[in-house]
Amino acid sequence: MTTEPISYLSNVSSFLAMEIFARAEELEKEGRDIIHLEFGEPDFPTPSIISEAAIQAIRDSRTRYTHTQGIMPFREAVVDKYRRQYQLNISPGQILTSSGSSILLYMAIRLLVPPGEDIIMTNLCYACYDNLAIIAGVNPVRVDIHLEDNFELDVNAVKKAITPKTRAILINSPMNPTGTVLSRSCLKELAGLGIPIISDEIYADLTYEGEIYSVLNYTDNCIVLNGLSKYYAMTGWRLGYMIINPAWVSVAAKIHQNMMISASEFVQKAGAVAISKAEDECAKMAKAFNERRQFALKRLVESGLDPGYRPVGAFYIFLRYPKKDIDSLTLSMDILEKTGVALTPGIDFGPGGEGFIRISYANSMEHIDEAITRLERYFFA
Ligand SMILES: Cc1ncc(COP(=O)(O)O)c(C=O)c1O
Repeated sequence: MTTEPISYLSNVSSFLAMEIFARAEELEKEGRDIIHLEFGEPDFPTPSIISEAAIQAIRDSRTRYTHTQGIMPFREAVVDKYRRQYQLNISPGQILTSSGSSILLYMAIRLLVPPGEDIIMTNLCYACYDNLAIIAGVNPVRVDIHLEDNFELDVNAVKKAITPKTRAILINSPMNPTGTVLSRSCLKELAGLGIPIISDEIYADLTYEGEIYSVLNYTDNCIVLNGLSKYYAMTGWRLGYMIINPAWVSVAAKIHQNMMISASEFVQKAGAVAISKAEDECAKMAKAFNERRQFALKRLVESGLDPGYRPVGAFYIFLRYPKKDIDSLTLSMDILEKTGVALTPGIDFGPGGEGFIRISYANSMEHIDEAITRLERYFFA
């Protein structure tokens, strides 16, 4: 038996948040009171108007394969959203719908970056970016972002990272794990580099301060990734989409046909209703996340755990912890054992995340309050 495929993928890591969750579950079974702040998942149920649409679609036997790019009502709902929200005229033909944005991210890398070539990404970034690049056989080239710069991406550092092998730049705004957004000027300068951009905008609707914009406002030399998991509270439904430069659509569609055939028909039906009719309920959830964000920031500052920057989107706060002699995984496990608060170790988001923990405020105000009280006691008592 050859071990080649296994060693080729040996650098792919698992999500450490899952390890924390597994231990948290064990502790819960032992009767411990655990507060879960480790996952990036809305704690709200999917709005009922969306679930009802799916139930109706199943009753109507909308349970078949669809066009590989997705059903027209779903794609038209996306077109309409981009017109309303970003004043952009995209066409349904540029949209490719799939079962969650994660697989589309892999496809976007596959589409733009041949094996052995480079993709630039940030250090910090969502845990799977690096792994998906490795799975796709391409080289992740990381550009550091720093708390001292409010986690803003320095375009000069991006320029320095460009090699003759660079084929794409992968960005995420609002960003997991920091909750920060890339400024308009940063997007404009990145667009000006002339290298295709893959822009993960899954948290765009969860932007609490300032305006919302897309990389598409600056260039069409890009693929925008978006999905319904976060704003629409639909993580388990697995529905996402990408907006592709028209020149790349036919190849993208072929890849998608081969890999996925299509997303589920009834889920797409529900997705169309989510985007076109669930705005009120989703805006209420976003308002609640914003209130929790402000509350968590206030409580952290009062407790001597000031994050030192302002997260303005998603539902994360990235906190540099006041202990120098312990790595973030050991610390997160220790916090879990001693206080029952489950957090994600910063190292999950790249080497630049060492010394940090990620707090997800997708939890109730009471739990956030109690978790911060426990953290204060842990660090300072
Ligand atoms: C930045 C980012 N992109 C993509 C995803 C995955 O989204 P989906 O549920 O659409 O696969 C996540 C999930 O946490 C994320 O944080």
